[in-house]
Amino acid sequence: MQANETAAWKALGNLAAGPRATLKDLFAADPERGQRLSAEGAGWRLDYSKQRVDDEILAALFRLARERGVEERRDAMLRGEKINVTENRAVLHTALRAPRGADIRVDGENVVPQVHAVLDRMADFAAKVRSGEWRGFTGQRIRAVVNIGIGGSDLGPVMTAEALEHYSDRDLTLRFVSNIDGTDFAEKVRDLDPAETLFIVSSKTFTTLETMTNAHTARRWLLDALGDEAAVARHFVAVSTNAEEVQRFGIDTANMFSFWDWVGGRYSVDSAIGLSLMISVGPEQFREFLAGMHEMDRHFAQAPLEQNLPALMALTGIWNQNFLGSCSLAVLPYSQYLRSFPAYLQQLDMESNGKHVTLEGERVAFDTGPIVWGQAGTNGQHAFYQLIHQGTRLIPCDFIGFARSLNPLPAGEEGEDLTHQDLLMANVFAQSEALAFGKTPEQVRADGGVPEELVPHKGFEGNRPSSTLLARELTPRSLGALIALYEHKVFVQGAIWGINSFDQWGVELGKVLAQKIVPELNGDQELHHDSSTNALIEWYRQER
Ligand code: F6P
Repeated sequence: MQANETAAWKALGNLAAGPRATLKDLFAADPERGQRLSAEGAGWRLDYSKQRVDDEILAALFRLARERGVEERRDAMLRGEKINVTENRAVLHTALRAPRGADIRVDGENVVPQVHAVLDRMADFAAKVRSGEWRGFTGQRIRAVVNIGIGGSDLGPVMTAEALEHYSDRDLTLRFVSNIDGTDFAEKVRDLDPAETLFIVSSKTFTTLETMTNAHTARRWLLDALGDEAAVARHFVAVSTNAEEVQRFGIDTANMFSFWDWVGGRYSVDSAIGLSLMISVGPEQFREFLAGMHEMDRHFAQAPLEQNLPALMALTGIWNQNFLGSCSLAVLPYSQYLRSFPAYLQQLDMESNGKHVTLEGERVAFDTGPIVWGQAGTNGQHAFYQLIHQGTRLIPCDFIGFARSLNPLPAGEEGEDLTHQDLLMANVFAQSEALAFGKTPEQVRADGGVPEELVPHKGFEGNRPSSTLLARELTPRSLGALIALYEHKVFVQGAIWGINSFDQWGVELGKVLAQKIVPELNGDQELHHDSSTNALIEWYRQER
């Protein structure tokens, strides 16, 4: 049975088609709404009162989650059942942050001891690099760490390393190379000394074209400078599930950090894929990061749906996407440290829920994952917020903010007790208020001096939904909890839509076609593509 055939979905459809109160009406009718439609978990407070839901809609959404078996499916995931049916795999990123004594089984074997064994090896290695005990081939200290990876083997490390820069060892330079465009590698190593550089080749499969190409280029760059194959062992480590390929590349498996097929690429920042982050912030802070994730896992597993942050975000998202006709989600962190969080979420959400068939292989009868995008505030306000406020499309927003800044700079006039953080947060609150309540023509006129022909231009319809997520401070722990929150939000939506959030077959076709085209680019064989692709390749052959 598809989600749209459930009684709850039909009830939601009727509610969406009927007369609906605006956010202004809803707040006027319930002065406690802001308090009432808020929930807390793992150090985060979610205010979803500015979503266009009332008690009846919320009740139907919770019914939908229950009719779709979200709680049972969650429990099955947490138990290690093979819920990734198209790849016959368990989905156990939650085991990566389980405490030492936990017991989580895959095929009868407790995986937690393996997880901690790898974490301990990572911690040992990270400490050696940080202290200078781990030396390069010529005996020099490692001063630059370059992670080579793409997708889940890059976005998580990039985003978290930026997010936790405040906690990082400032004597170490951290770089990330992902793009197969040679510019990425060339520019990232331009000012690095090979004798002081450590490469972490991060790839679940160790076969990804971009990563392997960049890894080979890095090896050439190193050997051109150091001139001895033996240098590779001091300057390359691998993070992978594929020991055979790691060995074939020439990295000693003693310098390999493993993870497992039950960790999806986009769910892997808390596995050995986070090694670059651990080197940057140290093992203790990395464990704090894992503890934050685990705290959110427990909240997700234990809180009733009505107070469950991931469930609330997922359900209000489904209301927006499937019943109010929105097709995207803007994620707006008001923290410069979180500037790459939207890009990270793009893979997490869109690779997970960008699916058009159900678990049973039927074409879905409704829309699935939203287009996720966004940028750090306040910068985005001066770019695309115009369209969110006055455009014709409904764009739900997630605002993310903190009470305390890690860089509490004073602002404002002499003697005023104002900080940059106050000005930043004033903007968070102002934006969600403006989106929700807008500005009527009467209010525009009441400002005075506005020519009548400008009144429509200066009006804001309002009634535009948003949620606000707040935590005290950006720490490894609160970051971990935030990531886990979105992971589980994605899970709940996938469970309701009845799709597999844990495979990614949609990225395969392009990869296969590219492999076919590679040898055609510098050859003169006849081309057998469509006329457009043939012409494009011909152009490239002439111009390259
Ligand atoms: O192409 C998509 C993808 O398979 C992602 O799911 C994954 O995170 C990325 O490629 C990188 O894969 P790997 O870690 O195996 O190099």
